[in-house]
Amino acid sequence: MAKPKKRYVCQACGSVATRWQGQCADCAEWNTLVEDAGAVVTTFAKKHNLQSGGRTVELVGLDSEVALPERMRTGIAEFDRAIGGGLVPGSATLIGGDPGIGKSTLLLQVAARLAQSGQGAIYVSGEEAADQVRLRALRLGLGGAPVRLAAATSVRDILTTLGEGPPPALLVIDSIQTMHSDMIEGAPGTVSQVRASAHELVRFAKEKGCALILVGHVTKDGNIAGPRVLEHMVDTVLGFEGERSHQYRILRAVKNRFGGTDEIGVFAMEGKGLEEVPNPSALFLTDRAEEVSGTTVFPALEGTRPVLVELQALTVRLASGATPRRSAVGWDSSRLAMLLAVLEARCGISFASTEVYLNVAGGYRLSDPAADLAVAAALVSALSERPIPGGTVILGEVALSGEVRPVAHTALRLKEAAKLGFERAWTPRNAEPADGIEVASFEQLSRLTDRILGR
Ligand code: TYD
Ligand code: MG
Repeated sequence: MAKPKKRYVCQACGSVATRWQGQCADCAEWNTLVEDAGAVVTTFAKKHNLQSGGRTVELVGLDSEVALPERMRTGIAEFDRAIGGGLVPGSATLIGGDPGIGKSTLLLQVAARLAQSGQGAIYVSGEEAADQVRLRALRLGLGGAPVRLAAATSVRDILTTLGEGPPPALLVIDSIQTMHSDMIEGAPGTVSQVRASAHELVRFAKEKGCALILVGHVTKDGNIAGPRVLEHMVDTVLGFEGERSHQYRILRAVKNRFGGTDEIGVFAMEGKGLEEVPNPSALFLTDRAEEVSGTTVFPALEGTRPVLVELQALTVRLASGATPRRSAVGWDSSRLAMLLAVLEARCGISFASTEVYLNVAGGYRLSDPAADLAVAAALVSALSERPIPGGTVILGEVALSGEVRPVAHTALRLKEAAKLGFERAWTPRNAEPADGIEVASFEQLSRLTDRILGR
């Protein structure tokens, strides 16, 4: 056997170097290179012909009569929706998210619901003691669910234990960064350990047909910690997002071999765990008795689901010639600057001596340019202190020329707005009308600002 070569793997991006360096040559992170047990290269493949000596594998026709395993519905509709209609037996799913966002809580609830419906569910925690997990289950009101718990970090121990009984329908590993495989050297959490542990667990899941869910930690820039390869090894990658200071959480598929990536699941973190939110619009709209200037409502789209969000703008006039502040929460600040420039150049509305603050309510993050018109309307309404008429939703993309451009899925967005009691929509021209909602369309941004200013 040839001697394994020393190599160094960047813990941030997974790139390999032959010498240790203070900075990764690929991703430029500092102090991320760690010595890694490299692959042992045997000369076997070189000496022998690979076409002989192996075992034959069974080749199955696409039209095989054998029934395909059915998706398992967990009973948590928002979770099932995000993963494409239920867990696929034998599949591996990776779920990432900031610490404390609720990954453990969500998966404990999923495991409990499956177990309550008679499916075997095992929850292995490498981070908490079994009693801590039980305590959490009690708090969630799931103390009676027949989930089997283990506190373990050795992949060999876990697989040995699982090998003894019938395989569970669901195996949750919380988290993959705490797992340790003795097939390979290195501390838990290093790239090679994460990869080796995940490989063993995924192989077990595929062999036994159980659905595997791995929890993955997220680095400060939002990627799942450890190598990108982890994302290639699994079938589905989910992100669990939200602001920790706000209640709502969104479960979103980033990659899905068994379904689309355009559906989301919406939850709210309550005192008794995560509650499903079947009607997310209600979460982001504040109850307003009267019309307030600077506030508009935009019908956003999450995958194929419309979500109504409230935009709030505040302007403060400065007396002196000081540089005014511009601040945006939940909206891109360069897009805010662009809209301010278009309002000035095309509509003659100047914010030059005004501080501008823009906030998307509920901690929601908007990146859809279809919200341009709603943002512009909020800004002008704030500046002029003229409220937008109640019951109005606004949508449309604004071009640098001041032209209002059409947006995708207008009908779907308007339908949701009508459902929630909105009566009026300000849209780009040629918008498809929707039942129960009166549509006013605008070709130019200046037409809309004239309307707000009562010109
Ligand atoms: P947790 O699932 O431990 O997060 P993660 O596994 O992603 O790190 O969630 C922890 C947070 O959720 C914690 O700040 C407390 C909060 N929480 C509730 O608000 N209600 C609950 O019922 C539970 C169990 C947790
Ligand atoms: Mg956790």
